[in-house]
Amino acid sequence: MRMYDLIMKKKLNQELSTEEINYFINEYTKDAIPDYQVSALLMAICFNGMSKRETLDLTIAMRDSGDVLDLSRINGIKVDKHSTGGVGDKTSLALTPLVASLGVPVAKLSGRGLGHTGGTIDKLESFPGFSTGLTDEEFVENINTIGVAITSQTANLAPADKKLYALRDVTATVNQISLIASSIMSKKLAAGSDAIVLDVKTGNGAFMKTLEDSQALAKEMVSIGKLAKKTTIAVVTDMDQPLGKAVGNAIEVKEAINTLNGQGPEDFKEVVYALGAQMLIAAGKARDAKEANAMMDESISSGRALNKLAEFVKAQGGDESYVYHPEKFTKTTYEIPVISREDGYVKRILAENIGIACMTLGGGRETKDSVIDLAVGIVMDKKIGDKVKKGDTLATIYANDQEKANKAVDMILESYEFSKECIAVPKVIKGVID
Ligand code: URA
Repeated sequence: MRMYDLIMKKKLNQELSTEEINYFINEYTKDAIPDYQVSALLMAICFNGMSKRETLDLTIAMRDSGDVLDLSRINGIKVDKHSTGGVGDKTSLALTPLVASLGVPVAKLSGRGLGHTGGTIDKLESFPGFSTGLTDEEFVENINTIGVAITSQTANLAPADKKLYALRDVTATVNQISLIASSIMSKKLAAGSDAIVLDVKTGNGAFMKTLEDSQALAKEMVSIGKLAKKTTIAVVTDMDQPLGKAVGNAIEVKEAINTLNGQGPEDFKEVVYALGAQMLIAAGKARDAKEANAMMDESISSGRALNKLAEFVKAQGGDESYVYHPEKFTKTTYEIPVISREDGYVKRILAENIGIACMTLGGGRETKDSVIDLAVGIVMDKKIGDKVKKGDTLATIYANDQEKANKAVDMILESYEFSKECIAVPKVIKGVID
């Protein structure tokens, strides 16, 4: 078999066989196919797509490219959660300790930032000392003792996806339904949980821009999960503007901490609760969303959820005092307000541009090897529906480089659109697919 022939076949919009997909994944995992050939195949997939059978084959080949975790040593129904990626999406940081505090064992595998979106692993590294590379034994041990563990993909867990993920990030081949579905589901299946709750983002800050495409992605992943005999539920949520207010790494961690203190932004809390309810129901801890919501309210108001976050940070080697003193997170040299030049109601915020502005500040990766600045970011002071007067602060930039901050100011100003008429606040939860 030759990689050249596979590229040609996909270029001509023909289906790849199971053997061809297995060949491509196995050889690429062994470094026997160069990145440039894989990039060409990925681009051909972006243009011509994959059938359901090809997508399932790709998922299974990537799952089997490394170890499949055995979580049978953990009692209870283990639940994993994954987001398709968005701007300001710090959901896992608040959600995982919250549901773990209610007795749901959370075994979560997370990724780094991809394209204009942030990643949970980068965000967690804002806690000094935090280790995101647990061994399989530590992963199981932490879930058994404190109920939650988050680790980055170990070198041998879906290694094919790990390589493809990094390559797609820098070759403009991220936003394709089959590639996203197989990337996410291969990791989720390899991570060994019993139930998977997916947050499928939709809107201009998501990889899937239209509700139609997002629903198609949600259905594709739910159907892969069902075929693999895992309870799989997808919640489609809004990404037409950044989620919550903070966009960055450490500043998103701070917002998640505020939320567990009962002071988070309403849209963010809504997403956390919608996913939390599905996790509690899937784990058999709540009968319905009403009961789940009451349980989550109690855990937050009693401080149990925040204490669980501290326990989790400590168990992974991080300094848990930051959970109770978020003012300890490293500050940036500059704090620059972005001032509105017009009056009106905020009609649109191009979330993708906000994500790119954060990358420009150094908060995301431009290349596979970029080192990111965890302290920088943007706080969205005005969101869709807010009334704005000329001179008001639309957003605040946290930066360590004046020139980069100036670029970000322009990008943020260009991302806002105003209306003279009142604008309704967009619905955050767009639907549930199970
Ligand atoms: N998250 C993933 O894990 N993979 C993708 O392709 C997109 C988002």
